[in-house]
Amino acid sequence: MTDAAAAAGAAPAGVTGPEIVGAPAAPGAAGTAAGLEAASVALGLIWAQSSDGTIGRGGVMPWHLPEDLAHFKQVTLGAPVVMGRKTWDSLPPRFRPLGGRRNIVVTRQADWAAEGAEVAHSVQSAVALAASSAPLPATDAPVAPVAPVAPVAPVAPAPVATDAPATGTLQVPDAAPKRIWIIGGAELFSAVIDEADLLEVTEIDAAFEGDTQAPHLDASWSVAATDPADAEPVSWHTSRTGLQYRFLTYARR
Ligand SMILES: NC(=O)c1ccc[n+]([C@@H]2O[C@H](COP(=O)([O-])OP(=O)(O)OC[C@H]3O[C@@H](n4cnc5c(N)ncnc54)[C@H](OP(=O)(O)O)[C@@H]3O)[C@@H](O)[C@H]2O)c1
Repeated sequence: MTDAAAAAGAAPAGVTGPEIVGAPAAPGAAGTAAGLEAASVALGLIWAQSSDGTIGRGGVMPWHLPEDLAHFKQVTLGAPVVMGRKTWDSLPPRFRPLGGRRNIVVTRQADWAAEGAEVAHSVQSAVALAASSAPLPATDAPVAPVAPVAPVAPVAPAPVATDAPATGTLQVPDAAPKRIWIIGGAELFSAVIDEADLLEVTEIDAAFEGDTQAPHLDASWSVAATDPADAEPVSWHTSRTGLQYRFLTYARR
């Protein structure tokens, strides 16, 4: 898919109105803020947050947690990732585009372009683009931080986490992805969370001041898994940086 095609917002060949597997719409619901149609490609959101819900400050993440960056890569590798333009900008240039993943960037700027980024001008067209079967980049880049941190050692590629079975009727080519990861930031998360069926959240056991907050999780979400496994009492991993953190997987009730 070319940038021009993406910019046109055209659905990829063979994909007419991608269906997105997620929570069923509330009875009578006429759509979502993002205007995403009901569904057949699963949407997941992934982020890291402080104990007080901060995900960003001044255009970056206000912590250094290399284990989270490795986790991020492990979860998203091989899948398309969709991000807001500010999140793209937050990536250190040497890590852009994120290796081994299609990088789809949403912007309202008609002339925005960046090497390695596929451009979409709406969330809907970004999801349509991500749902297409365009080939993945041939090479993998180093672990890609979503913050201005030092590179960490690449981790072994791992399968994309928990692909949900397709339950819709969308005619998606075999090579099309089963899951798309929305990787931020807050503006993108708020636009798509109602259509998502999975959240991968890294929780840091410390408060950080910030200007960008994690999305509010309503009662339709419940914790499906924790790592470390002990949820009660809560247990934590300890980073080599000294921060304590844990991975939480949320699914729809
Ligand atoms: N902790 C984490 O896991 C994590 C993950 C990701 C990001 N972050 C942090 O979050 C912050 C960035 O988040 P953010 O919410 O400020 O920005 P963002 O969501 O990354 O990007 C916002 C931009 O995306 C474009 N956009 C958003 N909605 C659009 C729509 N419906 N149609 C077309 N374009 C649209 C616009 O780009 P234009 O202005 O170009 O039109 C908008 O300014 C940074 O601090 C970053 O470090 C943290």
